[in-house]
Amino acid sequence: MPDNGVTSGGLLSGKRGLIMGVANERSLAWGIARVAAAHGARLALSYPGEAVGRRVRGLAKELGAVDLIACDVSSDDDLDRMAADLPKIWPGQPVDFVVHAVSYSDKNELAGPYVQTSRRNFATALDISCYSFTAVAQRVAPLMRDGGSLLTLTYLGSERAIPHYNVMGVAKAALEASVRYLAVDLGRQNIRVNAISAGPIKTLASSGVSGMRHLVKWAETNAPLKRNTTIEDVGRAALSLISDLGQGITGEIVHVDNGYNVVGMVAIDEALRSAPVLIELGKQLARQTAADGTALGKEKDVVVAPQGDALDSPLDDDRR
Ligand SMILES: NC(=O)c1ccc[n+]([C@@H]2O[C@H](COP(=O)([O-])OP(=O)(O)OC[C@H]3O[C@@H](n4cnc5c(N)ncnc54)[C@H](O)[C@@H]3O)[C@@H](O)[C@H]2O)c1
Repeated sequence: MPDNGVTSGGLLSGKRGLIMGVANERSLAWGIARVAAAHGARLALSYPGEAVGRRVRGLAKELGAVDLIACDVSSDDDLDRMAADLPKIWPGQPVDFVVHAVSYSDKNELAGPYVQTSRRNFATALDISCYSFTAVAQRVAPLMRDGGSLLTLTYLGSERAIPHYNVMGVAKAALEASVRYLAVDLGRQNIRVNAISAGPIKTLASSGVSGMRHLVKWAETNAPLKRNTTIEDVGRAALSLISDLGQGITGEIVHVDNGYNVVGMVAIDEALRSAPVLIELGKQLARQTAADGTALGKEKDVVVAPQGDALDSPLDDDRR
């Protein structure tokens, strides 16, 4: 039954889950939390610090009875404390699922070329965006006494080079490999481990990737389903993986991207439809380069000259 784009029902009734990574109402984790709550799950949300905590507290009220746990995933002490808090929140009850929707990179390294990645940000990005999933799994697996489901979030930049995704692509590739190793390690305990590879969505974290707006537009134009991914799409797919619907699924990277990942090459009429996006990007980069030659000078090579007028076609009128 539709409920603000969130289906409701009882697929998670009687289950308890931790959702890590709600920052605001645009967060993918929020899309998952709303669906999980609508399906009867008892939830705990974690947040890294007070600034985010204030926003999460406000949002949590919408979900009914939700517990909040402070946890910066770069701290082993915080992770230990979180694992110790869960049995206090739900005394005598197991944890059934954990959603890990956490990533971080210095945004200065999500612009320009990957080759300039610093050792320091490489380590930080891999620690927070990848290792933390394993660190969480270590601590929550013993709490999943009846089996369970661990879910993380990834992006196509792990499989293919996406402009400016840079070190995050490397971190996501490692995260996806972790999913497979964890699935093997934890399978005997009936703990399933999966990832959703979501299409681009404007969020706090993704806004750090230079050119994100164009990435979103490009995906919408060129995905087989001709629409953008929403946090509700992610929430519904997550529901199938964290509920008993997903009982036979582990070690998987499930693409929730309107099919974008299967496209090898855009057809010529699709390329024409993409032309306005490229032209706009070219104009924007040209403007920014004029304003700040140093920062965007790096991107001069990829600027599409706005002589794209030559690409104007009758297709533009009705398909723009
Ligand atoms: N937005 C997209 O286009 C997109 C696409 C595919 C995958 N993803 C992935 O989805 C996940 C959620 O990102 P989002 O786009 O919803 O953005 P978001 O900014 O809403 O969420 C990122 C979360 O990471 C948390 N975080 C960062 N550092 C942390 C730390 N040290 N300890 C604990 N938490 C920390 C932030 O507090 C925030 O809640 C990320 O793994 C992201 O890579 C996003």
